[in-house]
Amino acid sequence: MPVKTKPKPKLKTPTKDYPRIIAPPPGPKGRAIIKRDKQHSSTSYIKAYPLVVSHGKGAMVEDVDGNRYVDWMAGIAVASTGYAHPKVVEAVRESAGNFFSMCTTDWYYENFSAVCERLAKLAPGNSKKRVFVTNSGTEAVEGAIKLVRNYNGRKSMIAFKGAFHGRSYGAMSLTSSKVTQRASFGPFLAGVHHEEYPDPYRTVFDKSRFKDAGEACVADIEEDLFQRHLAPEDCAAIFVEPMIGEGGYIIPPKSFLQGLRRLCDEHGILLVCDEIQSGIGRTGKMWACEHSGVEPDVLLTAKGLASGMPLGAIIAKESVMKWEGGSHGSTYGGNNVACAAALATLDLVENIYLENAKKMGTRLMTGLKKLQKKYPCIGDVRGEGLFLGVEFVKDRKTQVPAKQLVEDIMQLGFRKGLLLLSCGKSVIRVAPPLCLDKYDVDTGLAIFEETIAELT
Ligand SMILES: Cc1ncc(COP(=O)(O)O)c(C=O)c1O
Repeated sequence: MPVKTKPKPKLKTPTKDYPRIIAPPPGPKGRAIIKRDKQHSSTSYIKAYPLVVSHGKGAMVEDVDGNRYVDWMAGIAVASTGYAHPKVVEAVRESAGNFFSMCTTDWYYENFSAVCERLAKLAPGNSKKRVFVTNSGTEAVEGAIKLVRNYNGRKSMIAFKGAFHGRSYGAMSLTSSKVTQRASFGPFLAGVHHEEYPDPYRTVFDKSRFKDAGEACVADIEEDLFQRHLAPEDCAAIFVEPMIGEGGYIIPPKSFLQGLRRLCDEHGILLVCDEIQSGIGRTGKMWACEHSGVEPDVLLTAKGLASGMPLGAIIAKESVMKWEGGSHGSTYGGNNVACAAALATLDLVENIYLENAKKMGTRLMTGLKKLQKKYPCIGDVRGEGLFLGVEFVKDRKTQVPAKQLVEDIMQLGFRKGLLLLSCGKSVIRVAPPLCLDKYDVDTGLAIFEETIAELT
């Protein structure tokens, strides 16, 4: 007789106590803080919407008035392990109980050496790497400019339109994201050439001669830039985001990075991949350049590296990072507490969240593609892992960017309990904490759809 087994209970997506809007934001406590802030903080801060954070847990953020939100932006791809992950918090507590900082340029401590070792081994490719640790992404970019010039004695650099590399003078000179970030601040570093970034959705290249926008872009550098404007032997480096962040969460064809690698090899130029936004497991691989199978000469990381503690790094081939002792340094870069947070973060990302980013990324992508079928205002949905872009247009044929709609979606989404952030011309970036689960995906999708439906 067949053994009777109890039918397994159907796995339900767990319900949680968020989102929850109890005092339309900003509530009274939030308003009081905003008022104080506006009196004394720099006028250069813009603020996406009036979110006044109290605390967070996983992919949930709570504001000072008790409203709870599903977070789809992670403080611009920073909260990689979510908010207040117990393992990261414990690492921070323990290291802070020992000491905060001991200028890494002059002395040694284990957490710092361990971060250098870990990143050197994590970087793509077989060649041995060395690591310089910084406080931020911008500081990593700035240091990398010095490193490449020091290495080959050349002065010029290539960067891309739409790129964001930071706001200090060197990094700002490479940045070409929004004109407000540059207006009135020139002159910039001489010798920076900005090329078109290959956007498969809005390609500006002649499609007839090339397989894709990636090939066309590389050919443009070879056939135009190197023939008319810049001798390749004067070019120190190409700075590139393997998947562009602020410029619109664009995923270029693999041929792009592969073609740049070839160009660099042919002309003795260094390839610098800025993975400050796209790295640390966000795209479903530890580094976005791994999707193209390319090993850069220099790789830059920050943001998600230490779950929100300030830390960045320049990871370079040993053959490149040969600058003289004392030629570069940093007082706080790689402080004990941030390094402890990074080591805990990397454990979590490598062991759990890299896999989760792939799984939840697929679930999100499927949901977003369904919305694209239903709502003509969604022109494009793209991405890898949890690095996803939803591009809104006024009309699918003309592809005119729907800027105001994106702004309205961000604001209304916030009021409904979903934290979103725009980028590019008219793109909502979906870059949640890598720990988000099915509930966070499905709930976020429901609010996102409700928001779009109400506005269109
Ligand atoms: C690709 C990229 N590079 C550099 C930076 C600058 O990093 P930070 O703000 O930590 O200085 C950013 C920040 O958004 C970025 O996205």
